[in-house]
Amino acid sequence: MADFPEFRPAIKTRVTFAPSPFAEGSMRLAHYAFFHDRYYVIKCFNDDTQDFIQNALQTTYAQAVLKDIRCQMFAITLANIFNGRLSQVDKQEWQIKYAVPSLVAFGREMEYAEPYMAGDYVRYNDNNGNVQNGDTTEGKIAASFCHFTYEETNGRAMVVDIQGVGLHFTDAQVHTRCIARTDELFKRFGMGNMGKYGMTKFFRTHKCNSLCQVLGLTPRDVAGL
Ligand SMILES: Nc1ncnc2c1ncn2[C@@H]1O[C@H](COP(=O)(O)OP(=O)(O)O)[C@@H](O)[C@H]1O
Ligand SMILES: [Mg+2]
Ligand SMILES: [Zn+2]
Repeated sequence: MADFPEFRPAIKTRVTFAPSPFAEGSMRLAHYAFFHDRYYVIKCFNDDTQDFIQNALQTTYAQAVLKDIRCQMFAITLANIFNGRLSQVDKQEWQIKYAVPSLVAFGREMEYAEPYMAGDYVRYNDNNGNVQNGDTTEGKIAASFCHFTYEETNGRAMVVDIQGVGLHFTDAQVHTRCIARTDELFKRFGMGNMGKYGMTKFFRTHKCNSLCQVLGLTPRDVAGL
């Protein structure tokens, strides 16, 4: 992929949402909301993360929301290319899909929203090289997608932290090779970015599966990253 364009999120709506979260991750609380005739999930940073945003990153809540949106949009872009490649090798039934993020206005803040996904929510890997459900078909596709993102960006970035319902994913994290504060890619993406170290963590546990092979992905030795 030649370039990484800056992404602009689409929707701005004033909404209300359920005051109590129905689920939480390590950084965000997930609330139900209903607008535009469907259920959404609104994800608000928890107190520890807000503290981190303010004091460690020294940025604003809104900027941190934009980082999460950019991660997700980046994953969507790469998922589209991945799906194209799957079609070429006659595996279109394995196409993946990322939830499309939007920005919604709530109180004085802008919050992250995405469509609610019904069904069993499953984790396939994290941003630290840990693998779950790796032996399932979905788990293999998820791992192969991560590897693919590394190849497609010539090792400049990779999408990890794959989770969701079946092959409908969300909560993308991006590792960028360079984590200098002045690096354009580093500045763009989220708080789970562990840089080249994170890429190393992925490839330390990743064993190329049959899909990696069919897609012609190069097996990566950690030393050669
Ligand atoms: N689109 C969604 N549909 C249904 N449940 C979701 C959705 N997104 C997140 N969740 C639930 O909310 C939890 C927290 O969201 P997540 O995006 O993983 O937050 P974090 O950034 O803290 O990891 C998830 O573990 C999952 O249980
Ligand atoms: Mg999560
Ligand atoms: Zn592989």
